[in-house]
Amino acid sequence: MVYDVVVIGAGAAGLMCAAQAGYSGRRVLVVDHANKPGKKILMSGGGRCNFTNLDTTPQHFYSSNPYFCISALKRYRPEHFVSLVERHGVEYVEKAPGQLFCENSAKEIVRVLLTECEWAGVKVSLSTSISKVERVGDSMRLTSSMGSIDAGTVVVATGGLSIPTMGATGFGYEIARQFGLEILPTRPGLVPFTLSDSWKERAAILSGVSVPCEVSCNGRRFNEPMLFTHRGLSGPSMLQISSVWEPGDAIDINLLPSEEAADALRYARRTAPKRQLSTWLGERFPKRFAQALLEWYPDANLANPLAEYSNDALDSWAQRLNRWQLKPSGTEGWRTAEVTMGGVSTETISSKTFEVKDLPQLRFIGEVLDVTGELGGYNFQWAWASGVACGQSC
Ligand code: FDA
Repeated sequence: MVYDVVVIGAGAAGLMCAAQAGYSGRRVLVVDHANKPGKKILMSGGGRCNFTNLDTTPQHFYSSNPYFCISALKRYRPEHFVSLVERHGVEYVEKAPGQLFCENSAKEIVRVLLTECEWAGVKVSLSTSISKVERVGDSMRLTSSMGSIDAGTVVVATGGLSIPTMGATGFGYEIARQFGLEILPTRPGLVPFTLSDSWKERAAILSGVSVPCEVSCNGRRFNEPMLFTHRGLSGPSMLQISSVWEPGDAIDINLLPSEEAADALRYARRTAPKRQLSTWLGERFPKRFAQALLEWYPDANLANPLAEYSNDALDSWAQRLNRWQLKPSGTEGWRTAEVTMGGVSTETISSKTFEVKDLPQLRFIGEVLDVTGELGGYNFQWAWASGVACGQSC
């Protein structure tokens, strides 16, 4: 079998790239070891796929080379993908500012990509495994479960390591290593935290309760809700901060990001001295969380009115509310992580064509690269943008 372009991975980036290369007149084959294309697309966004973010800028991505993503993101912008899904009749909603989700089902995004591939004459071969990738003269040869495949260009679009049960493997990194590329250390990102000992029990009791907060760690800050789980903390703010968290780090949680708690408590003591702390907390937090706070910190007679609280006592409460520190014991790991931090170093990859600089027959796109977006549709926008830049230049 001979193809101009063979894409390994029928996920978001791979299918997008294949369609573009097909439209450029290339003979294109996409191979995937999974029995279905786009499995991660199907499970994304709670089954409705947050397929882009209208506010996509390079600042929303992590990479050891923050400039690498600029060119592709500039060239293929969120509005390009929006107009693609509109042409295919996909209805969508903006669930949070900038975050576009399918109105009905993520299946529609997979349908769009497969239809584009079909129109572009791309062949998609599922349940196909690749055991060897080698350079033969000026082209590449793949040994696969359907025989030997010769290709002018091989595009590696095998994604990251998260959710192995959905087909994730480290195969892309193996190919990169084989051809002398550097792999930056990988770790789970956008992943819930686990807690240990008493904090784990406390979280479990509150499982399902969501609390608005601002969380910070290692210079990054996110103002979004957090969610207690049976084993720890999740919700948008915790998923976001997990991408910069390193084992052993504490996270700072501001439970009242729009209020200086010390001032607000002193004001309440002055203007409503008979009010109890429980009432004051109950006005600001979900009932179960307010009650839990009082149980965790039983340092006052709760029946006492605010008038009887000393400045020191109010300051202790203010500290807890504005600067609550927690040390996660770990994360839920690859089993539930949405993305992989790190990956194939971009240093020797062209940011315009995604080819390996001294081996243009080999290219890497999407999440397998050391480019990872924040939560909110950025990761798919990266998959589309890198796929288009690569596919159009194949
Ligand atoms: P992707 O993982 O999509 O595709 C890789 C493909 O390669 C897979 O089909 C896989 O089977 C195949 N493959 C792997 N190893 C292979 C091998 N050895 N041989 C052959 N094929 C192989 N992002 C976002 O922007 N909005 C969202 O709503 C979400 N939601 C979300 C939820 C969950 C639960 C997860 C796990 C992830 C998200 N994401 C997300 C992240 C998003 O899914 C991810 O960044 C993209 O799918 C990455 O696209 P890629 O094409 O690079 O990899």
